Amino acid sequence: MKQELATVCKSLHLGYVMEAYEAIPFNDRSDYLLGVLQAELQGREMSRIRRLMKKARFPQIKTLEDYDFEAVTFPVHCNRELLTDLMFLERKENVVMLGKVGTGKTHLATALGVEACRRGHEVRFFRVHDLVAQLQEKYQTGTLHRFQRELNRAELLILDEMGFVPFHKDGAELLFNVISECYEQRSVIVTSNLEFGQWNTVFGDARLTAALVDRLVHHAHVLAFTGESYRLKHALSGAKSS
Ligand SMILES: Nc1ncnc2c1ncn2[C@@H]1O[C@H](COP(=O)(O)OP(=O)(O)O)[C@@H](O)[C@H]1O
Ligand SMILES: [Mg+2]
Repeated sequence: MKQELATVCKSLHLGYVMEAYEAIPFNDRSDYLLGVLQAELQGREMSRIRRLMKKARFPQIKTLEDYDFEAVTFPVHCNRELLTDLMFLERKENVVMLGKVGTGKTHLATALGVEACRRGHEVRFFRVHDLVAQLQEKYQTGTLHRFQRELNRAELLILDEMGFVPFHKDGAELLFNVISECYEQRSVIVTSNLEFGQWNTVFGDARLTAALVDRLVHHAHVLAFTGESYRLKHALSGAKSS
């Protein structure tokens, strides 16, 4: 019987029924059938989220639940609820996070990405420098179009750490193209330790920087991270209490 069940489930591509069916409580047939189908649905949902999380390539998993918003300054028309409800994603708007190192930008960007995956959205996370290196490599090997198509499948692109190291001119242009492709098509989250006025130093070209900031900021929520370094603060409070 069990073997037959397994065969039927396999033919129907029901991947989660076999492991769930024996433990499903029920009063009558429809109750039981509903339970079985719900288990299948839930299994598929969980596996889709796992797939999305893997594809996003987050360097670390961080969540909104353990994020303290105290040191985040929101612009008008945006607040914590709108942000964490991913309103910007629905509207294909961008989020720019500016602040010194250790103030929680990568954590919040990642947590928003994780939340987007949980809600079934495709996300890609890159450290800006890794992305530029990949773009240059794909350009040289003639596979840039395929890579761009792959990036275009994402609904949210997270570009972390804009501004730590300057790019070469080719790299800056390739990155500019990626951001231009996103314009009004999908959301981008960018984090940076530099004010917009200093982005010239990263791109090495005032005209390109102006065009990039223009596209990025047109439909963007610019958040300022004003706190002290969280790492430092914790190291200090840890030292005090011990
Ligand atoms: N507001 C916050 N709430 C919870 N943890 C935080 C917060 N800000 C920073 N952290 C933690 O401090 C560390 C550094 O934060 P990170 O996001 O990497 O900073 P940044 O990207 O701005 O340099 C991480 O481990 C992060 O989880
Ligand atoms: Mg960071």
